[in-house]
Amino acid sequence: MGLRRAGAPAVMTGLPSSSTAPRGLHVITWGCQMNVYDSARMSDVLRPLGYQPVDTPDAADMIILNTCHIRDRAAEKVFSELGRLRKIKEARETAGQPTIIAVAGCVAQAEGQEILARAPYVDIVLGPQTYHRLPEMVARAARAGGAVIETDFPAEQKFDFLPDTAAPQTPGNLTAFLTIQEGCDKFCSFCVVPYTRGAEVSRSVTSVLAEARRMVESGVQDISLLGQNVNAYHGTGPDGEVWDLARLAYALAAIPGLNRIRYATSHPRDMDDALIAAHRDLPELMPYLHLPVQSGSDKILRAMNRGHTADEYREIVRKLHEARPDLALSSDFIVGHPGETDEDFEATMQLVRDVTFAQAYSFKYSQRPGTPAAGAPLQVPEDVKDARLQALQALLREQQDAFNQSLVGQTVPVLFTSEGRKAGQISGRSPWLQPVHVTGSRDLIGREVPVRITERLTNSLNGILEEEKVYA
Ligand code: 5AD
Ligand code: SF4
Repeated sequence: MGLRRAGAPAVMTGLPSSSTAPRGLHVITWGCQMNVYDSARMSDVLRPLGYQPVDTPDAADMIILNTCHIRDRAAEKVFSELGRLRKIKEARETAGQPTIIAVAGCVAQAEGQEILARAPYVDIVLGPQTYHRLPEMVARAARAGGAVIETDFPAEQKFDFLPDTAAPQTPGNLTAFLTIQEGCDKFCSFCVVPYTRGAEVSRSVTSVLAEARRMVESGVQDISLLGQNVNAYHGTGPDGEVWDLARLAYALAAIPGLNRIRYATSHPRDMDDALIAAHRDLPELMPYLHLPVQSGSDKILRAMNRGHTADEYREIVRKLHEARPDLALSSDFIVGHPGETDEDFEATMQLVRDVTFAQAYSFKYSQRPGTPAAGAPLQVPEDVKDARLQALQALLREQQDAFNQSLVGQTVPVLFTSEGRKAGQISGRSPWLQPVHVTGSRDLIGREVPVRITERLTNSLNGILEEEKVYA
């Protein structure tokens, strides 16, 4: 715990003093939705120091790279971006404008020392669990003129130290992310998350509900609850009991104005009956669930340490559909995990045919140093992974198109969030997250309105307003 200092000499000159004069902040975010949330919270934490968002790095007194380490080449992308930022920093500093470069997120956590060794012009390296200490890190970087590295897992929970007054990501937004749980104790064979994000921690119910209320007061209607294992949520309630995600969902649904609740990412093992019942009871819980299965082969699921079989997954899906017939699924898949044979891959294809997905992400297995699968025998050759990924993605694409096509002719509630790209057009989201475009007045932005879907485009839908019926 505490600040550790890297031995590398500082290259930067004269960092900004600790006054609160206006300064530009540019955050570049890679990776998952939680990183998007974290980037917003880093901006919140820095706002009292005078940092305001700017659109380009050359206008920024501080640049944060919020990084992702989940798959291949993440670190290389970071180093190549740093090379570009170094030039900007040098040009600005020649013009007398000191510039802080910070690397945050999971690459920082996993490769902090390497970053300082290869890019000594980086001023701050911080892991995902320490960004509540950013103001202190900025001050220390300025004072000591040396790089600051904070990649420990502090005993205090960062959520207890983040400013309460934080506005949601962007004021005026109708949708927002809200992190309720972080970290993972499941240790899937392929995954770095338990090492980069640390052990599973849930925020208290009170702090989650307070943040949700603040978001709703500022106009948010659609909240996505985030966590690496969001349905393993077990926060302390105001009654001193441990609340699970189902109980939290009922409490959130009772907040007037919070019309849409989503959550990601779930683990099949934690998809219990109480949560399935919440899908039956709460219209606010959107009928769209991201439930990664990774593989359809029991042998590979075992090797992955997933803790469930393919049939158990099918059974969870059956129960979910029973509870909420219009529920659609999204998932993650990995092809080419060590030991995966053609037969195992075919079991994955069969699972996809059986379950059907409205949307999915699929990846070639990539070796992550330090994870159990990285050193496993029977690594699958790259060309085999390529062929499997292509076959899987073709099937998933077919299913996604079929799902979107099935909405054509139906009337669905659309929450309008912005003006469309074309003149006179407005855009919003369906309950299943597809972007929907209609011709309509911008006065409808912020309202949930019935729309008859008329056309399927590649990744979105066109529709027409059914004006007589307005939901909210
Ligand atoms: N290789 C390929 N895909 C991975 N994922 C996580 N780790 C790896 C890896 N080493 C995928 C999983 C996970 C998603 C976020 O990223 O499918 O659900
Ligand atoms: Fe990674 Fe598995 Fe934890 Fe998901 S459940 S974050 S895939 S270790």
